[in-house]
Amino acid sequence: MKVIVTKNYEEMSALAAKEFAAVIQNKADCVLGLATGDTPIGMYRELVAMHEKNGLDFSKVSSVNLDEYYPITPDNDQSYRYFMNYHLFDHVNIDKANTNVPDGTAVDPDTFCRDYEAKIDALGGIDIQVLGIGRNGHIGFNEPDANGLIPDTHLTDLTANTIEANSRFFSSMDEVPKQALTMGIHSVFKARKIVILASGEGKADAVRAMLAGKITTTCPASLLCIHPDVTLICDEAAYSKV
Ligand code: GLP
Repeated sequence: MKVIVTKNYEEMSALAAKEFAAVIQNKADCVLGLATGDTPIGMYRELVAMHEKNGLDFSKVSSVNLDEYYPITPDNDQSYRYFMNYHLFDHVNIDKANTNVPDGTAVDPDTFCRDYEAKIDALGGIDIQVLGIGRNGHIGFNEPDANGLIPDTHLTDLTANTIEANSRFFSSMDEVPKQALTMGIHSVFKARKIVILASGEGKADAVRAMLAGKITTTCPASLLCIHPDVTLICDEAAYSKV
């Protein structure tokens, strides 16, 4: 894994946006793997600025998002579809028909997950995938599990730790969905290039566990160490315990 340590969140976001812009400029019809959470917001802001100021062109770009709460409707302002529209899709010239976010209203989640995986394959795989990291080392919603991880897109139960971490966005703990649809580690590994971002002291333990030199399903992010093209861009605070 290549590691780049930046001074702060802004520098991390600018570098990540550069990586994405380079892929878009090289391949107009590329497939972007996208993530939600606080971490990539700055990167999306930079990409919007590049579109507005330098004409970065998303017209032929497709995207695949990592995860979505289940159940949740797309118009709920806590849904990841809403987040993506709000932070990126509504501000660039991407065709929303080419954007894919797992469907939090799917009646048959198992069939939906199989179709989502097939969709990623039909698009030809992901050219560049951005990831955040959970405080417990999760990626997407692949929660730590000593008994193993499900490789492909699946419906999963959220851990108490994640429900608590994500409750800050909801008016009460009870409103946080207890399940989510998520790409699995194998789905993520279909990306040709992965950029994982981490910012702030709250992520320092997770970053340390990821880089501890031991691959383990109790820290799903540690599995990234065996992908051939992963860059960790993190700020000094997130790197402070390595
Ligand atoms: C959420 C998301 C992840 C995200 C992580 C970190 O649970 N499912 O994809 O990477 O938490 O979020 P944040 O960037 O807000 O710290």
